Amino acid sequence: MSNVAVSLKPRDDTHALNADNLRAAWAQSFRAVRAETERRAAPLSPEDQVVQSMPDASPTKWHRAHTTWFFEQFLLVSNVDGYRVFDERFSYLFNSYYVAAGPRHARPRRGLVTRPDADEVSAFRAHVDAAVARLIEGADTALLEKIIPIIEIGLNHEQQHQELMLTDILHAFAQNPVSPAYDAKWQPPRVNEGKGDFADLPSGIHAIGHDGDGFCFDNEQPVHRVLIEGARVARYLVTNAEWLAFMEEGGYATPSLWLSDGWTAVETEGWTAPGYWQKRDGAWFTLTLAGLKPVDPAAPVCHVSYYEADAFARWAGKHLPSEAEWEVAARLGLLSDAFGVVWQWTRSAYSPYPGYRAAEGALGEYNGKFMVNQMVLRGSSLATPNGHSRPSYRNFFYPPARWQFSGLRLADCA
Ligand SMILES: [Fe+2]
Repeated sequence: MSNVAVSLKPRDDTHALNADNLRAAWAQSFRAVRAETERRAAPLSPEDQVVQSMPDASPTKWHRAHTTWFFEQFLLVSNVDGYRVFDERFSYLFNSYYVAAGPRHARPRRGLVTRPDADEVSAFRAHVDAAVARLIEGADTALLEKIIPIIEIGLNHEQQHQELMLTDILHAFAQNPVSPAYDAKWQPPRVNEGKGDFADLPSGIHAIGHDGDGFCFDNEQPVHRVLIEGARVARYLVTNAEWLAFMEEGGYATPSLWLSDGWTAVETEGWTAPGYWQKRDGAWFTLTLAGLKPVDPAAPVCHVSYYEADAFARWAGKHLPSEAEWEVAARLGLLSDAFGVVWQWTRSAYSPYPGYRAAEGALGEYNGKFMVNQMVLRGSSLATPNGHSRPSYRNFFYPPARWQFSGLRLADCA
């Protein structure tokens, strides 16, 4: 559990709060995050909630149950005397990848779990919500100190799944010929438009990583020094108009623009455009959370893989920023729309920071064991919950992945 102690520093103001205020604040945070999950699930029918469109995407019902299992497994079982597990079978069904927490159902087969149904999952959520509320309510100062870090990582974990609920259902809807809308009233985020404007980064030694108040995941630490030399980072995100120019110049048909694995993906997957794009009567449309919409040339490109982002950058005569360049630029306020629109691929492989050590035990499996073969994305997306974005946040996906809200900004040499 030491990674919780390391990564979840108490906020400065918590020292000034008495136990009553702490209990009230954490009970309120818990209720708010849990309610947001249900708000995101509300537009989805029980049929929507069970579908799994590919091994990487999980059913909505599974997300709702798995985030609940997380609190039951890591908070309630070990901190509530005589806690009654809601259903002994759920640990097998809803454990994701925590080997130390026991055996688990195969990820690609989550969509076959029609029972428990959505109502039973709601009952599971209510059972755990009530138990957590009672635990917080009755906790003395010593117990609060022990459980608050677990509640905090559980809530941040649930927020990560809130984003996945939207990316995963959009992928499911993209398999449906009638292009359903998750929410017909959904609007894309407003963005700042600009082109070809690069910000110079001050050359020299900078610090990156999470330092200070508030929550962070263990992979954002420790703070360490990096050398930035002769780097410029685009102030603006790459737009659909720019991507269309890449396509019109044969970007998807020019092997010399692509990494070897990327070109293999182009050929194998038949990529000719970003994910969810389709041509109708000569015009490009894309599936959004509001259903099928014309591609907006001014909007940032979305649903591109690392391979595509890298090929685009090569076509443009540029490259992707490293994650250190991105973070330094973000901390200096040089990036437009750094957060809340699209995750931005960097050219950095996802690996441990100098001095990083994963914790012992099941929660030590949270991030550390994934530090191979994936690339880092920075910023946050339109699906990221409020309060979950920060300059040090490290998201990571495999290079061919494009069902996330993923885009890019370019970098150049000074
Ligand atoms: Fe999870």
